Amino acid sequence: MNATEQRIDYTVRPGGRLSGTLRVPGDKSISHRAVMLASLADGVSEISGFLTGEDCLCTMQAFRAMDVQIEQTGPTALRVHGVGLHGLRAPAAALDLGNSGTSMRLMSGLMAAQAFATTLIGDVSLSTRPMRRVVDPLRQMGAVIETTEKGTAPLRISPAAKLSGIRYASPVASAQIKSCLLLAGLYADGITEVREPEASRDHTERMLKSFGVDVEAEPGRAALRGGQRLIAADVEVPADVSSATFFMVGAAIVPGSEIVLTAVGVNPTRTGIIEILKRMGAEIELQNPRFFGGEPVADIRVRGAGLRGIEIGAELVANAIDEFPAVFVAAACADGETIVTGAAELRVKESDRIAAMCNGLQVLGIDAQAQPDGARIRGGQLHGGSVNSLGDHRVAMSFAMAALRADGPIEILDCANVATSFPGFAVLARSAGLQIEGEL
Ligand code: S3P
Repeated sequence: MNATEQRIDYTVRPGGRLSGTLRVPGDKSISHRAVMLASLADGVSEISGFLTGEDCLCTMQAFRAMDVQIEQTGPTALRVHGVGLHGLRAPAAALDLGNSGTSMRLMSGLMAAQAFATTLIGDVSLSTRPMRRVVDPLRQMGAVIETTEKGTAPLRISPAAKLSGIRYASPVASAQIKSCLLLAGLYADGITEVREPEASRDHTERMLKSFGVDVEAEPGRAALRGGQRLIAADVEVPADVSSATFFMVGAAIVPGSEIVLTAVGVNPTRTGIIEILKRMGAEIELQNPRFFGGEPVADIRVRGAGLRGIEIGAELVANAIDEFPAVFVAAACADGETIVTGAAELRVKESDRIAAMCNGLQVLGIDAQAQPDGARIRGGQLHGGSVNSLGDHRVAMSFAMAALRADGPIEILDCANVATSFPGFAVLARSAGLQIEGEL
């Protein structure tokens, strides 16, 4: 299960261009939530388009360990036999959530409300990520949780006498915090309300509604009353816009490229990358708009074009939070300077993404200056070289795309964690024209 046990390095030969019609795997955020909500529902839910990346498999294994019957009915299809809000059973051991921050933060809210104790553990990277952001408000609700002295996992969660709803103004725009508290709020007395400084992704709110829960949701605020039951619902998971991003950027930076990414989730809380690339001058069209349940979906056509540097401020950060490693590569290929501010959260993702990307771009000959809350990147000629992904899937895939515009091969170290979000990345990328080696 743990990707870091197996070493994968990529070597990507320079040049080439992307073409074709591609379907990237299912949305990671929606896949996690589908397993969680279907497990807590009364009745049987069918999930299609599920992401079989390691992060979502960790969530699935955790619910299986709590006695939820989850059948894999196809390569990306699950049948979940929901046990109801109070039907989870104590797991025999600690729940290992691997590299997955979403699993740990969302499940901490759920586990805090159970009548049994649990311990949540993760890999080296997850064990350094900040958990007080969820533990502190959960304690305000009455939860009993211990962290390490640094406020990190393992999280030892004991049964609470009771949980009470709170009105919480989160200092960080984070769907993980919001979703954690809403999930705890399902079990709490009264109303749980979360406000945030910028609107974060709203998949939890949309999916709770599909499962019959009455949720108040507007940009920057969500609230629900505890005690509502979930009714089983089928979930069709769209392709992940965050995974599509690597191909969008890969096509956008090479004139002559043209790709269509099919059935991509285009929830407006996730499409900051499209806005950013369009402002940089990319040619992007959304075609065939439709809905998968409560989630908007479209086919995205991208043609290579000359890009220009832009300023990206806090208002675009939350909606593109996972896309910055790829944005930094686009910036390295653009004319002029790109300035990113208001993005300090990038420092506490699967790696410190500001450091990882600026260091790697410098190795490749680009003037990339890290700032506390962002970076200044001046476009230029990318050269070959060896960069370290620091075990971060999105850093690895972003540097892979950079090779399209490099004048020598790029070696990318420590890429096994690509499997956390994008199983089959190298094979799909090769089929689209990237000259990548290193994964069967
Ligand atoms: C996620 C929320 C984001 C994102 C992560 C997935 C989610 O984290 O970076 O990859 O599924 O809720 P934050 O909410 O902490 O910004």
